[in-house]
Amino acid sequence: MKLSVIGCGYLGAVHAASMAELGHDVVGIDVDERKVAALSQGKAPFYEPGFEELLARTLATGRLRFSTDFADAAGSQVHFVCVGTPQKRGEYAADMRYVQGAVESLLDVLAAGDLVVGKSTVPVGTAGFLAELVAGKVPGALLAWNPEFLREGFAVQDTLHPDRLVYGLPAGPDADTARALLDEVYAPIVERGTPKVESDYATAEMVKTAANSFLATKISFINAMAELCEATGADVKLLADAIGFDDRIGRKFLNAGLGFGGGCLPKDIRAFMARAGELGADQALTFLKEVDNINMRRRIRMVDLAREVCDGSLLGKRVAVLGAAFKPDSDDIRDSPALNVAAQLQLQGAVVRVTDPAAVDNSRRQWPQLDYADTAEEAAQGADAVLVLTEWKQYRELDPVAFGEVVKQKRVLDGRNALDREAWTAAGWSYRALGRRAG
Ligand code: UDX
Repeated sequence: MKLSVIGCGYLGAVHAASMAELGHDVVGIDVDERKVAALSQGKAPFYEPGFEELLARTLATGRLRFSTDFADAAGSQVHFVCVGTPQKRGEYAADMRYVQGAVESLLDVLAAGDLVVGKSTVPVGTAGFLAELVAGKVPGALLAWNPEFLREGFAVQDTLHPDRLVYGLPAGPDADTARALLDEVYAPIVERGTPKVESDYATAEMVKTAANSFLATKISFINAMAELCEATGADVKLLADAIGFDDRIGRKFLNAGLGFGGGCLPKDIRAFMARAGELGADQALTFLKEVDNINMRRRIRMVDLAREVCDGSLLGKRVAVLGAAFKPDSDDIRDSPALNVAAQLQLQGAVVRVTDPAAVDNSRRQWPQLDYADTAEEAAQGADAVLVLTEWKQYRELDPVAFGEVVKQKRVLDGRNALDREAWTAAGWSYRALGRRAG
């Protein structure tokens, strides 16, 4: 099939290459010339394991190309809308201008029989509105909503092997046409028996925000327990293991620590609250405000803990921050808890050196006031305290004996409960973590 993918950020670029991998003829369209040039040359504009290999493979087949010209979307039968919906400045609501702009630009190239497929995370009600826009301008063109659940760091795997497919379909007989086109696009995925949920537009839109709200709630739940553990001397890691054995709860997403960041969970729960308010249903989501509050409190607690281990004052103390990305295997620093903590430490007078295996360049651009190092050893040279704030494998596997040679004081703060406490304490380190007793 001939497909277009509008927006070649994280979601769109991976989607375009994955669709070419499935055998389709794909054009990825983005207004950013540099992004299009990089992708066309097989270079990933972001760090994502396995993506460059996929890009190289699919470009070589001739089935994938990138362009800045919307006219190149003409002739495709299915058009995926993969543009961003960031949080509006100073507001909770999502900024819908890119989605609106993408669909309006598509109107000029659509033909009867084409299907526009929304993949971006949007406020519930958006798809219905866009479907009317499409049908009003191009009779016979249809719209479906097909949310994407990919995680950064696993984007390729999640796109080619999703847990489920969700089709938000138009009402009436148009549903059959839209379903048939989506089934053809995803044929190899559908044929392997991937669960599929078909629904109206509103449900499909809500699946995404509900899933992200649940994940955020699960993380904040265990972090609230961590606060209580800190007050009682209990151990949040053992607590998570024990409650996680209950299948109804499950151990995944119960890792207590610095909390969630990134380009999705924080902005999605806020946009969901804003939309609920517009719909007069704000009470239903007031708990998400608390989820957000718990999450943000962890960052403050981390700074307090750093001050505590530095004998009550951060002034002039050398602090090494290991990790800048919002999570491992990513160079994404959007709403990164690690950088937020690093900046707070600096504001309180600490001499902070940040390192990260992939995100230093991005961090330097956005947080030029911080100091950076290429390696953990360099960052920790002469340090009064070492903070592990993103649980990269490299940091989890640090040898506490050798690493102890470079620091001034063997004090480690494990912001992600990712280190082997026994190994670090055996090597003479004082070990502190959120929600656990001092080791
Ligand atoms: C998330 C959703 O998982 C994905 O389905 C959706 O499509 C986009 O948003 P992503 O933002 O890539 O994906 O990262 P995710 O792995 O969900 O982690 C989000 C944040 O939660 C990270 O900052 C991570 O460190 C934190 N986290 C995750 C925890 O603090 N504890 C956990 O147990 C799990």
